[in-house]
Amino acid sequence: MKRTVFRSVGGYVPDKVVTNDDLSKLMETSNDWIVERTGIRQRHWAENGVGSSDLAVPASLEAVEKAGIDIGEIDCIVLATLSPDHTFPGTACFLQHKLGLGGIAALDVRNQCSGFLYGLSVADAWVRCGQYKCVLLVGAEVHSTGIDKTTRGRDIACLFGDGAGAVILTASDDEKTGVLSTHLHADGKYARSLWIEAPGSCFHPLRIDKQMLEEGRHFPKMKGRHVFTHAIKRMPEVIEEALSVNGLRPSDVDLFIPHQANQRITEAVAKVMGFENERVYTNIEKFGNTTAASIPLCIKDAEIDGRLKKGDLLLLASFGAGFTWASAIVRW
Ligand SMILES: CC(C)(COP(=O)(O)OP(=O)(O)OC[C@H]1O[C@@H](n2cnc3c(N)ncnc32)[C@H](O)[C@@H]1OP(=O)(O)O)[C@@H](O)C(=O)NCCC(=O)NCCS
Repeated sequence: MKRTVFRSVGGYVPDKVVTNDDLSKLMETSNDWIVERTGIRQRHWAENGVGSSDLAVPASLEAVEKAGIDIGEIDCIVLATLSPDHTFPGTACFLQHKLGLGGIAALDVRNQCSGFLYGLSVADAWVRCGQYKCVLLVGAEVHSTGIDKTTRGRDIACLFGDGAGAVILTASDDEKTGVLSTHLHADGKYARSLWIEAPGSCFHPLRIDKQMLEEGRHFPKMKGRHVFTHAIKRMPEVIEEALSVNGLRPSDVDLFIPHQANQRITEAVAKVMGFENERVYTNIEKFGNTTAASIPLCIKDAEIDGRLKKGDLLLLASFGAGFTWASAIVRW
C-alpha cells in the first residue's frame, strides 16, 4: 500500500509584529493578562490589501523549493482557511492563479482550527489512491481584518494572528513512512460556541444590515471557557484513537504538535497524555493562534530547531470551531 509523505514544509508570516502592549493601546487588556491566560506575547498582522491567498504564496513557494520539485508537478491544491479572500470563489482558486497553476484541482477546506488536519486527510486519501501525485496542502489565515479590535472583542482579538503554512505531499511505497492515519470528528451542536454569525445566507433581505454591523454580529464570538473545556477533553480522546488504531502508546511519540489554540490548552492536553515538555512543540508565543496555519508553521519551526528528525513519530492534533477535532500520526 502506498503512503503519503511530507516532502517539505514552508511558512510565512507578515512582517508587522503586534505585541500585547500594542493591543493594550486599542483595548482594555494587558501583557500580563494575555501571557498568563494564553501564553501569547505577540502576533503578526497583514498590511491592508493582503489576503489569505497572498500569505499562502510565499509559504507555498518555500515548500516547493525545499521539496526540490518543479512547481508544475503539483497536480492539486488543498487550502484550509476560515478567513477566505472573498465569500466565493474559494481561496484555493486565487492561490492557484497566483502560482500560475491554471487547470489543476483547487479545493477549499472550511474546518477552522482543524482545517489543516481535515485537509491532510483528504489529500492523504487522494495521494494513496493515486488520484493526485503531488498535492500542495496549505493553511492560510488573515484574522486581523476580521476581529473586533475594541474592548468588546478583546477575548478573541488577543488570541488570533495572521500567517500561512504549506506542505508538499507525494506518494511513497515505503509502508513504514509518512501519514499512518488521520482521524476526524465534529459536533455541530456547538456551532454557535465559536462562530461568525453574519453575513449569513439565512438573513433576508440582505445577508447583513446596518444594525447587525452596529451590534458587531460580523465579528467572531466565542464562549471561551466552553471551548476550553471541550478542547481538553476531545484532544486526548482523538489522540488515544490515533495511537490505538496504530498499536502505539503515548511513550512511542517523539514529538507532539498540537494546533496552537492557547498554551494552557496545550499544557492541559500534554499533562493528560504524559508528554513532557521535550516532546511538545509550541510557537504560540510569537504567532498567536493562526488557525489552519498553526500546525504547518509549527512543523517548519520544529524542523529548523532540530526537534523533528527523519524517522521520528510525529503526533498532530487539533480542536476548534464547529466544534471540530482531529489527529494524525506521521512517521517523519
Ligand atoms: C479566552 C480565554 C483566554 C479567556 O480566559 P478565561 O480565564 O476563561 O476568562 P473568561 O472568559 O472567564 O473572562 C474573564 C474576564 O476576563 C475578561 N477578558 C477577556 N479577554 C480579555 C483580555 N484580552 N484582556 C483582559 N481581560 C479579558 C473577560 O471580559 C472577563 O471579564 P469579566 O469577569 O468582567 O466578565 C479562555 O477562555 C480560553 O483560552 N478559551 C479557549 C479559547 C480558544 O482557545 N479558542 C480558540 C480555539 S481554536
